[in-house]
Amino acid sequence: MVKICCIGAGYVGGPTMAVIALKCPSVEVAVVDISVPRITAWNSDQLPIYEPGLDDVVKQCRGKNLFFSTDVEKHVREADIVFVSVNTPTKTRGLGAGKAADLTYWESAARMIADVSVSDKIVVEKSTVPVKTAEAIEKILTHNSKGIKFQILSNPEFLAEGTAIEDLFMPDRVLIGGRETPEGFAAVKALKDVYAQWVPEERILTTNLWSAELSKLAANAFLAQRISSVNAMSALCEATGANVSEVSYAVGKDSRIGPKFLNSSVGFGGSCFQKDILNLVYICECNGLPEVAEYWKQVIKINDYQKTRFVNRIVSSMFNTVSNKKIAVLGFAFKKDTGDTRETPAIDVCKGLLGDKARLSIYDPQVTEEQIQRDLTMNKFDWDHPLHLQPMSPTTVKQVSVVWDAYDATKDAHGICILTEWDEFKKLDFEKIFENMQKPAFVFDGRNVVDAEKLRKIGFIVYSIGKPLDQWLKDMPALA
Ligand code: NAD
Ligand code: UDX
Repeated sequence: MVKICCIGAGYVGGPTMAVIALKCPSVEVAVVDISVPRITAWNSDQLPIYEPGLDDVVKQCRGKNLFFSTDVEKHVREADIVFVSVNTPTKTRGLGAGKAADLTYWESAARMIADVSVSDKIVVEKSTVPVKTAEAIEKILTHNSKGIKFQILSNPEFLAEGTAIEDLFMPDRVLIGGRETPEGFAAVKALKDVYAQWVPEERILTTNLWSAELSKLAANAFLAQRISSVNAMSALCEATGANVSEVSYAVGKDSRIGPKFLNSSVGFGGSCFQKDILNLVYICECNGLPEVAEYWKQVIKINDYQKTRFVNRIVSSMFNTVSNKKIAVLGFAFKKDTGDTRETPAIDVCKGLLGDKARLSIYDPQVTEEQIQRDLTMNKFDWDHPLHLQPMSPTTVKQVSVVWDAYDATKDAHGICILTEWDEFKKLDFEKIFENMQKPAFVFDGRNVVDAEKLRKIGFIVYSIGKPLDQWLKDMPALA
């Protein structure tokens, strides 16, 4: 029986390994982590992450060929294939701070693998890492040369949160990069054999190590670039009276462009896009390519601009101040169908409103008060360190209350901000909400989920990203 161990029981390690266990009954999979609360949750009925379909997969395999454990060394020692799916955050200090990937967690995992191993192993980079990381990892793995052979592979993960199980069941592609040597090819084949148990052969791509590492950064950069492109257009739409949904539809009908990933929004969030583009920018700079670095930096600049523009629009529409006004924030997760708040645009929007002294009442069906307070008090980039899994400090933002109902959040509010596209927001009784709000009542839709015309008929003043502005908003132009 092939034994797999995955270091890191997070959003990638947990679902990916659960699906491997389900699809490969003859493989034994152990997912290990240094975080005791995370592993306890994986072994309970309340999994540590919310992902549609995940509970079902875990229930089918846990205790059979899928195990969650904090005994990292034991499972690594016993494994034939070790996946490493630990955090690769943006560095917060020192050389490359604010851009470069911090490989501290990766390096400590690699050192531990080298130290505890007593048999040959294939070590798989599952985390997103800078190009050429495999070279550094190889050096670490062989540092105490006990005669054990390690083959390193790059197998980046392309799943998106909220659809992780679907994506893992039917991936567009699985990418495996390895050394172009007989041992390298054999290792690639061993991993390919695992995926081939459910992924069609033509969807399993094999490349050299550096192409696989770079393809992951490139794919995320291309996806984020589409969103920044449509968001840049949304600003121009508002200025000219064009409608961004109509523009996106018309543009996406070109089969060379395609319709996906062209929804204008308050900005992209999530743990990957910003981090991976900053990483790409840093690699370009280190390789003497400042023009290329500058090009990709713009994707992030437009994303920041979109969030600032949204806050400015709220403040300017509400008579240039939100001081002491109650703003209901509907949605805090970075997208629907996840409780994940890493780099969610809601953090920057809420901080912007708090900076103007607003009182916020926040509702998200999947995000807890503890998480929201933690996000609003944490320093930039600190979220991606395992420390974020520890109990939070008692600091809280007093102007923020977190409620468990959209009606409670909007009661007596001056304005509503929609920051996540949860389906339930489309079905709210806006007549009832309007009655219970201060007047004039505003809706700022950062996801274009509500029917603006219907809301205007009820009496709301509505701002929808990239849509023609109503007279009120034209009369109160947002300051840059
Ligand atoms: P995560 O924070 O959810 O999980 C990482 C886990 O690794 C944590 O539970 C942490 O405690 C654990 N860990 C850190 N160092 C460890 C060590 N030395 N030993 C044992 N456990 C350790 O992160 P994630 O979202 O799963 O992302 C992991 C990697 O995958 C990152 O490189 C990320 O860029 C990449 N990735 C993420 C996604 C996504 O959608 N979240 C998608 C593709 C790729
Ligand atoms: C992304 C990549 O899609 C995935 O392949 C990679 O493995 C990890 O990073 P994820 O961050 O989970 O996945 O979600 P994704 O669906 O890509 O959305 C990212 C952000 O972009 C979200 O905030 C989402 O709301 C936003 N978005 C997405 C838009 O604003 N408009 C769109 O058209 C699509």
